[in-house]
Amino acid sequence: MTETTPAAARDLQLLTLDVNGERHEVITEPRRTLVDVLRHDLRLTGTHVGCEHGICGACTVLVDERPVRACLMFAAQAEGARIRTVESLADGGVAGGELCYLQKAFSEHHSLQCGFCTPGFLMLAEGFLAERPEATKDEIRDVVAANLCRCTGYQTIVEAIDGCAVARRRTKEN
Ligand code: FES
Ligand code: FES
Repeated sequence: MTETTPAAARDLQLLTLDVNGERHEVITEPRRTLVDVLRHDLRLTGTHVGCEHGICGACTVLVDERPVRACLMFAAQAEGARIRTVESLADGGVAGGELCYLQKAFSEHHSLQCGFCTPGFLMLAEGFLAERPEATKDEIRDVVAANLCRCTGYQTIVEAIDGCAVARRRTKEN
């Protein structure tokens, strides 16, 4: 007698993901997106899902330090890469740890209202400032235009990212 494997079981695959410096093994279907695996399998719910179509940027995470829309990437495509989510920012990811410069700047400049878009903006800015620590306000404005916020009007987000860039530069000088 031939044994048949249920379709659901046949399609599962084992993924090894490096998220926030930790290695995770996940058994999942190949069609699942990175954002789904982060939120539902790894319980990293700081990454938000807005449009699921690559438009809003709420799901932005860093993949090898570059901002990526996690709703547009299959989890399988992230194997072998270093993934960072918003949970990695505060004190290197320690729960209840001190906020990083960027988070403090968002708080000081009142750069959020409902906060739904904030994790995406934080990771977008984190990736951008790592690449362009000397960024001008105009460059910051261009970059934040990639993500959608329906509440703040963007000015305070630009001020926060610029404030963070200045604070980081000062720390390096001292
Ligand atoms: S949820 Fe990914 S871009 Fe909107
Ligand atoms: S703070 Fe509400 S969507 Fe940005």
